[in-house]
Amino acid sequence: MLTIRHATLADKPVAYEWLCCSDTTSLHLGPPDYPESPVPTREEFERDFEDLYFLPAGRRQGAVTIIERAGEPIGCLCYACFHLQPGAAELDIWLKERRLCGLGLGTEALRLLVEHLRRELGITRFLIRPSTRNTRAIRAYAKAGFVDRPEKIPALRSFLKEEFWDAYGGGDYGLEGTAVMTMEDEPRPQ
Ligand SMILES: CC(C)(COP(=O)(O)OP(=O)(O)OC[C@H]1O[C@@H](n2cnc3c(N)ncnc32)[C@H](O)[C@@H]1OP(=O)(O)O)[C@@H](O)C(=O)NCCC(=O)NCCS
Repeated sequence: MLTIRHATLADKPVAYEWLCCSDTTSLHLGPPDYPESPVPTREEFERDFEDLYFLPAGRRQGAVTIIERAGEPIGCLCYACFHLQPGAAELDIWLKERRLCGLGLGTEALRLLVEHLRRELGITRFLIRPSTRNTRAIRAYAKAGFVDRPEKIPALRSFLKEEFWDAYGGGDYGLEGTAVMTMEDEPRPQ
């Protein structure tokens, strides 16, 4: 059975290991496939995933959660809201080993987090931004209900707060190399 739980500060070292030093790292970060998005150093991880993401006090702004299969931790799933319009969250996910990929676990975990955020924080709009070359992630997100938005800039503008556009508009792979995928509970105005 798959579950998610909020990470604590004790989980922070493994969250770093799984993101930056595992056999899934090269599937989404660093050369040869993703030279434009280098693997974060420990210091960069500390900066990007500050302690607040691991503490109850931060949960309205964002949090790291741990995915568990029958009680065994198998990866991380995060959300962040601080840079987005009210009612929106951006998600990110990484499993800790390749042998766990392709089994439907990432898709199921995303569904669990979306349900949790709807219920606990009233989030109704979800954003996720993989590399355009990460076909496995794109397929998993589509199965979880995310839709690719080829009109990237207007889609992103409807999510990001204006003051965060310069810092976060390009995503991890630059505007060109980043897919913009969204899931919105209300129909979008035409
Ligand atoms: C991205 C990730 C979370 C997806 O979770 P997952 O459990 O592997 O996803 P699923 O098994 O539900 O779905 C993967 C889909 O991609 C397909 N797939 C598998 N390997 C693939 C490959 N090399 N190329 C293209 N598609 C592939 C699978 O067939 C499956 O589709 P299907 O169910 O229609 O057959 C997980 O693979 C992962 O952690 N990858 C490494 C980190 C990463 O890339 N994170 C994304 C950052 S945005």
